[in-house]
Order: sequence, then C-alpha cells, then structure tokens
Amino acid sequence: MSYTFDDVIDRKNTNSIKWEPAVLKNLFGEDDLLSMWVADMDFKCPDPVVEALVKRASHGIYGYSDIDDGYYDAIIQWNKRRNDWHLDKSWIVFTPGVVPAVNYLVQAFCKTGDKVIIQNPVYYPFSSAIVNNGATIVLNPLKETDGDYVMDYEDLEEKAKDPRVKLLILCSPHNPVGRVWRKEELERLGEICIANHVLVVADEIHSDLIMSGHKHTPFAGISEAFANNSITCVAPSKTFNLAGLQVSNIIIPNEQLRNEYQIILENNAIRHPNTFGIVALEAAYTKGEPWLEAVLEYIEGNMDYIKTFVDERLPEIKFKKPEGTYLAWLDFRGLGMDQKALESWMQKELKLALDEGYIFGSGGEGFERINAACPRVLLEEALGRIEQGIRNRL
Ligand SMILES: Cc1ncc(COP(=O)(O)O)c(C=O)c1O
Repeated sequence: MSYTFDDVIDRKNTNSIKWEPAVLKNLFGEDDLLSMWVADMDFKCPDPVVEALVKRASHGIYGYSDIDDGYYDAIIQWNKRRNDWHLDKSWIVFTPGVVPAVNYLVQAFCKTGDKVIIQNPVYYPFSSAIVNNGATIVLNPLKETDGDYVMDYEDLEEKAKDPRVKLLILCSPHNPVGRVWRKEELERLGEICIANHVLVVADEIHSDLIMSGHKHTPFAGISEAFANNSITCVAPSKTFNLAGLQVSNIIIPNEQLRNEYQIILENNAIRHPNTFGIVALEAAYTKGEPWLEAVLEYIEGNMDYIKTFVDERLPEIKFKKPEGTYLAWLDFRGLGMDQKALESWMQKELKLALDEGYIFGSGGEGFERINAACPRVLLEEALGRIEQGIRNRL
C-alpha cells in the first residue's frame, strides 16, 4: 500500500479550528493565515478508519453507545505490540479527551491550595487545568543548553518536598520541546515523586509519534511501584488524526486512585463515549499501523527539511530536530525581537498562524512552535516567508 501525504487538502468548511477563516480571525485577528498552530494533522486518517466510520454512519441511528471488549482489546494489543506495555482491561478508563482528563485529575487529587508541578515550557492547558480547579502551579523548569533540554532534578527534589505538592504532570514525549524521555530520566523523576508522595500524571498522548533512533518508555511500565504511583493519559487522536472524535483513555493501575478518579467522572456526568470515537479507535489501533509507519516517515522527512532549510538559509534561527511529536520548536531569539513584536510580525507581516513560544510558559519566549504534520509544500511556503521576512528586516 502506498500513501500520499503531499496532497494539500482544503479543510475550509469543515469547522476546522485550524483553517476556518472566521476562527482564525477570532483567534489571530487575521483570516488569511497559513495555519500551523494547533496539533492536528493536515492528512487524511487511515483508510480503514474512514471505512469503519462510513459504515457506522450509514446505519443512521446514533443513540447512546458504550465500549465493548473489542475496544479494550484494541488498546491492550496496541500497547503490548508498540511499547511492550502490558495493560489490564480494568485499568482503562474512557474519558472524552486528555485535556478534560487532566482537569478531572486535578479535581480528584487536589484540594483548594494544593500544588501541582509542571515542567515548563510545556503544553499550556496544564496550567489552566491546575488554576481553574483551585490548585497552584509549581514550576520545575526544563534546563536548556543550545536547544538540548533536560530535567532539573535538584530543583524537582526541593519542590517535591513541599507537602502541599500532590501531583506532577509529566509530558512524555514533551510538547513543545520534542524530547522523548529516556528510561533513566523517567526513573530519576519517578523515584523523587515516590519519595515525596507526589502522584505522577503522565500525559503520553504523543507516545506513538517517535522519530527514528528513539524509543518511548511508558512511565507506568517501568516498575510496579511506578504503575501504582501514576496515571497515564493515552489516545489515538494525535497518532491517527482523530482529535475531533474526542476519545482518550486514562490508564490507572492503582485501584484506589482509579475509584477516586471515577467518582469525579461520575460527578461531572461523564458516561457514554461518542459513537464514532469508539469505532475509530478500534479501526485505528487494529488496522492503522502501516499508515502510522508511513506518516512517521513523512513527518521525519519534514523535520529534516526544516533542519536543512534553517541550517542553510536561516542562520539567525536555531532548530534541533525533535525526538518525538510532530511539532518543531524553533528558536527565534537571535532576531532580538520581544515576544509581542515577534508575534505581530508572524501574523501581520508573514501571515503565519503559529503557536507563540511564550504561551508555553517561561522559557518559551522567543520560540515559535510549528506543526509539521502537513504536506511539505506548506512548510516550504512557511519557511520561505520567514526567510523573506528576515531579509526585509536587514
Ligand atoms: C501534551 C498534550 N496533551 C493533550 C493534548 C490534547 O488532548 P485532547 O485533544 O485529547 O484533549 C495535546 C494536544 O495538542 C497535547 O499536546
């Protein structure tokens, strides 16, 4: 089977938050932007997923639905095959999205004034999940040297000692910096958390998007102690481009923690999954693997393209190829623009809708996140605009 990811598919008039001009106008003040911000792909999902959805849609009745053994089995087999991670069916709790799940987890495990550690710069909805649910953010910033990011364990050890710190939200692989954390790195973090009674929420939504030469380590798969002191969020949404179907799974091996989480879901009246989400997950995990391998190769080609372009033609910009995710994290600090000027230049002059680095928290200022899960021609256009924009400034 051959796959074509080069075709530009018009996504207008599909209610896409990435491409609908009215949405762009509302978010960015401009409606004619080349859009590379939110993390969904501009590729069609695997054919078997489309076929399963069409079949289900043609049934014509979309009443309340529930998950069945086929759904659980698809998740279990996928994780066993891809990551050698062995899940028990009872650990899997459906939730309609990882961001909702992170919010419910803060509700479940933090009282007002309790604290949650995050490792900035990091996916910004973590901060709102913490603050909006009455907890306080504690920053354990990543350390950056020449585009390489590592965790700061000394700082983590200090911060985790505070008895009001109840959770640490780990982003693994890390959005936006693209790190695929190595087993030893996760072990060190996990041990500090266990020693200080800090529960780890591992957001592993990007765990299927790993570049060649790297390997994802499921945090909970490291040891029984880690499994018991963690809650892992996974989903087929980034992997297979199904974000609009709102299906994710929260893996909670520890029965007591699982019960506490389920009470919160019940209190928020989260019960029945979306009919199409169930169908899509099963088709994707059971029949989507060849497509995933092909799309990963294409995305890696895109990352190589960015790398070559930046190295050869944009000496003012720095870029390190990510180890995972389809997100490119570009360092524009060399241009010496303050963040608002950089943002305005991107949107008003270059007509690009990117995620501004500063929204990921401190350490993100001066960076831009480009979603590289798109036909290469769009990347060529975006980078060409940046090159031209820089020449115009000189
Ligand atoms: C780290 C991370 N978690 C969660 C999400 C979104 O999850 P969901 O759409 O399931 O709420 C994203 C989307 O970009 C993400 O990058």
